[in-house]
Amino acid sequence: MILIKLGGSVITDKASYLTFRGNVLSRLVDEILYSKKDIILIHGAGSFGHVLASKHNIQNGYSNNIQIPAVAKIMEDVRDLNLRVTRVLNERGLPSASLPPSTVATLKNGELDRLDIDLFYHYLQLGICPVTFGDVALDSERGFGICSGDQLMEILAKEFRPERVIFVSDVDGVFTADPSSDPDAALMGTVDWETLEKLPRTTRCADVTGSIFNKIETMLRIASWGGDAIVLNGNIPGRLESALRGDVVKGTRVRGSTL
Ligand code: IPE
Repeated sequence: MILIKLGGSVITDKASYLTFRGNVLSRLVDEILYSKKDIILIHGAGSFGHVLASKHNIQNGYSNNIQIPAVAKIMEDVRDLNLRVTRVLNERGLPSASLPPSTVATLKNGELDRLDIDLFYHYLQLGICPVTFGDVALDSERGFGICSGDQLMEILAKEFRPERVIFVSDVDGVFTADPSSDPDAALMGTVDWETLEKLPRTTRCADVTGSIFNKIETMLRIASWGGDAIVLNGNIPGRLESALRGDVVKGTRVRGSTL
């Protein structure tokens, strides 16, 4: 089984509310179709989630009633994005089933507490690709919170022990600094727990699910549960397909120790 996360930064313009990058998504789906293996697909929320979530501080849970319409609107927006993703998957010949965290998962103090894993197994058995995504979810302590694609990747990697984990990003991999602002930023061929401390702790755009640093930390934990893990650039045509084929591609290998 292969676990793929399409980052919100590649399928949307993360800085601009509700901006979908449909051509990029269609191409990436065509590349995914190359693989004949079982796939669980996760996608980020990008500008369909982060913009409003950040504005209304949704990630820290309930604080006032003004947040409530925003919670509902974010759920609507990320489902809109998800529908666009599953529609392309179905049209291109990869039957898919949507599993929104707002209905199949709950949080506790911001941590993913429960996910209906059986549904993923059953859809896979039927030859249907389960698709889940960054969403708002109920939180037993805080009322609600954000369930990120990375949290989903972690629990799914732990359960399914995928032979390969692929993070599809809008940059070539993990850099020593932000490549959009620092000309000296260098691509790291590999990240492991030792190199984590050297990574940048900042982000470029509104992002309620943490900095690149946090994301790499999560990736290292995810990599601990699966086989090969790589971060690669989904904006470069063919790179995802090459990785699925097993070729050595430009990107950052994530080496977590075996848990
Ligand atoms: C964020 O999910 C979910 C919401 C803000 C509702 P992710 O953290 O997985 O999304 P990206 O990949 O950063 O856009």
